[in-house]
Amino acid sequence: MNYNKKSVRDVELKGKKVLCRCDFNVPVKEGVITSDVRITAALPVLRYMLEQGAAVIACSHLGKPKGEVKPALSMKIVAKRLGELLGKPVKIAESLDPVSDEALALAKSLQPGEIMLLENLRFDKGEEKNDPTFAKKLADMADLYVSDAFGTVHRAHASTAGVADYLPAVCGFLIEKELGTMGKALADPARPFVAILGGAKVSDKLNVINNLLEKVDTLIIGGGMAYTFLAAKGYGVGKSLLDSEKIDYCKDMMKKAEQKGVKLLLPVDTVVAKSFPDPIDAPIDVKTVASDAICDECMGLDIGEKTRELFADAAKTAKTVVWNGPMGVFENPTLANGTVAVAQALADSDAITIVGGGDSAAACEQLGFADKITHISTGGGASLEFLEGKELPGIACLLDK
Ligand code: 3PG
Repeated sequence: MNYNKKSVRDVELKGKKVLCRCDFNVPVKEGVITSDVRITAALPVLRYMLEQGAAVIACSHLGKPKGEVKPALSMKIVAKRLGELLGKPVKIAESLDPVSDEALALAKSLQPGEIMLLENLRFDKGEEKNDPTFAKKLADMADLYVSDAFGTVHRAHASTAGVADYLPAVCGFLIEKELGTMGKALADPARPFVAILGGAKVSDKLNVINNLLEKVDTLIIGGGMAYTFLAAKGYGVGKSLLDSEKIDYCKDMMKKAEQKGVKLLLPVDTVVAKSFPDPIDAPIDVKTVASDAICDECMGLDIGEKTRELFADAAKTAKTVVWNGPMGVFENPTLANGTVAVAQALADSDAITIVGGGDSAAACEQLGFADKITHISTGGGASLEFLEGKELPGIACLLDK
């Protein structure tokens, strides 16, 4: 995939109406936004466009209304919060239809330096179907399309890809940064290049493992998915998480690593307990055993101390590190040491460090390491598909530089 895409910096904005796809899919509880990180993240590009004299029609989805109008998922609270953060009013139509006559009229009357927000795009069935009629209605409001919703670039929806059939399409600052760091790391990494993968299931990351083996010098596997690799080595894994149908796949990947000269690091020791904590953060009795000595009634729930050192050393001597997925059941303080150690190793490393969204991004943020990481991706599913090397519709549709 070509990562060299035009951005808002490469186009004239003065006097232009800009349709800007943002990812304002924020968590909302009882009508209150519980984290406005995604809104804050969009501020620099919105401010830039407004200062350059553009009129901005921002748009996003919120939740999964699946083509139905669900008032609880209205964007009105987002418009209010965005207005507070920008320090200027963000207009929004009363109608819940994102392309209502009222919304179209509001867009038409919008002046340079003004901003409005459309209603939840997924209230219209055309959005997720990438319906050309809906895409054209969105496009007709503007002269230019700016895509900055990295979290949704893996979706071929009307607002993430379809509109680019009708408007010149460039990226905003968030996608520009994703392409500049993650894109560069995958296409032309500073070496040694180390990838650390964790998370529960091998089957969730089949293509990621396969693609990264083409690119990295060292691939580290931790978390729940490591037990299927250990089983593929012939070790007993007791009651640990096992993707039994993927044992052969793991054997193939180990063979591929050997053929490519990629160092594949698996846990050498593991923190085990008799059962999974219930509730997840309940106190739990654990012990650490060698990875080839997990007893039948034991369940591996985190990487052990020797593994933490092994993985941290690999991260420290790397020039590029990409990390996706926790090393254990990090929601439980007794089982969070592996994930914390990896986050700490990235924070301490001089390498270009990239955290691929989701739980690992949340872990870095909660631990206060976010500003010590080169790039924390704003996309969960999108960043995984990026690591898989897949062509992402929301990026492929943008103009090349
Ligand atoms: C996200 O929250 O990951 C993005 O906004 C994408 O949302 P979706 O998974 O509902 O498409």
